[in-house]
Amino acid sequence: MSEKLKVGILGGTGMVGQRFISLLENHPWFEVTTIAASPRSAGKSYEEAVGGRWKMTSPMPEAVKKITVMNVNEVEKVAAKVDFVFSAVDMTKEEIKKIEEEYAKTETPVVSNNSAHRWTPDVPMVVPEINPEHMQVIEFQKKRLGTTRGFVAVKPNCSIQSYAPVLTAWKEFEPTEVVATTYQAISGAGKTFKDWPEMVGNIIPYIGGEEEKSEKEPLRIWGKLENGVIVPAVSPVITCQCVRVPVLNGHTAAVFVKFNKKPTKEQLIEKLVNFKGVPQELELPSAPKQFIQYLEEDNRPQVSMDVDYEKGMGISVGRLREDTVYDWKFIGLSHNTVRGAAGGAVLCAELLKAQGYITKK
Ligand SMILES: NC(=O)c1ccc[n+]([C@@H]2O[C@H](COP(=O)([O-])OP(=O)(O)OC[C@H]3O[C@@H](n4cnc5c(N)ncnc54)[C@H](OP(=O)(O)O)[C@@H]3O)[C@@H](O)[C@H]2O)c1
Repeated sequence: MSEKLKVGILGGTGMVGQRFISLLENHPWFEVTTIAASPRSAGKSYEEAVGGRWKMTSPMPEAVKKITVMNVNEVEKVAAKVDFVFSAVDMTKEEIKKIEEEYAKTETPVVSNNSAHRWTPDVPMVVPEINPEHMQVIEFQKKRLGTTRGFVAVKPNCSIQSYAPVLTAWKEFEPTEVVATTYQAISGAGKTFKDWPEMVGNIIPYIGGEEEKSEKEPLRIWGKLENGVIVPAVSPVITCQCVRVPVLNGHTAAVFVKFNKKPTKEQLIEKLVNFKGVPQELELPSAPKQFIQYLEEDNRPQVSMDVDYEKGMGISVGRLREDTVYDWKFIGLSHNTVRGAAGGAVLCAELLKAQGYITKK
């Protein structure tokens, strides 16, 4: 029998679910054994349920084609087959909150891509390079849920990945004010140009709920565990505008920063390229070797050249220059469905396994 942990993908037929399935093909620790989706797909083979909706550039892995899709709502049945699940279902926030806790209560850890639990005080929201210690709040969550191994852990929104790691690398210079504009890819809405032709040559200046997430979520990631909950940081103040642009994959951010302690350009670049975290120290399978790269050329980072840096798990930064109103400005880029969604969640699960929170049932 395989020693790998048995993984279920809730919402496995959707865009993020497909990304999970692609990323987990040949994973050294995890094996996708179970896929669940809406009752519309339940009972069909994965290949049949996805039909013409396969959106990845790599072909559908052979190992999953014949898996019979289960109904996400049959919690006990799905949970009985797996050691833990990744969640990427598209339901209402309340439904997701409830169903993810139902899975946790069957003693099945849930690593979620959804926003529903991002502000539940005892649920860790983690970028493994930034706040791996937040996983300790799981012990308090388990007490609330009455579980011994079941819990929910989440990753943050895709939009913040192009600047939150950068600001973390610059923490000792004490950023106080941040103004960010994000230029976000259409895959962030689960779409390709085929299903969203209106986006060809277009820009839409609105992404529902995104600006609030972009302003607030970094503060929770920089927060502290106190009395069994994560208390968000209060600084820096972040204000953000989020714009949908005609790009398939890759969220770009144009960012202005004011600091308490004025750094030089050399100091800022040095902090970026040397920024490492627990995933690099532990050499987790999905960890980028170099988390943040700095590109000197004036026309970088570019989506078409840089989005796949470190297999989509790294952050590319460029155009760092002094500003007349703020202190410094830069451009950041990250892959929204890899680092920003499924890849970020896979790295969280690898961290949870390394920390002993996810084990074989
Ligand atoms: N796309 C991104 O980059 C991104 C990034 C961060 C977060 N997210 C979030 O991740 C979630 C999934 O996004 P997505 O883009 O992958 O969506 P999607 O392509 O629309 O996929 C949705 C998945 O949820 C299932 N589903 C839909 N309604 C359901 C129901 N009533 N009961 C049970 N399952 C149901 C679908 O199953 P069927 O195939 O059977 O309909 C499918 O597997 C969303 O909450 C989204 O906000 C997405």
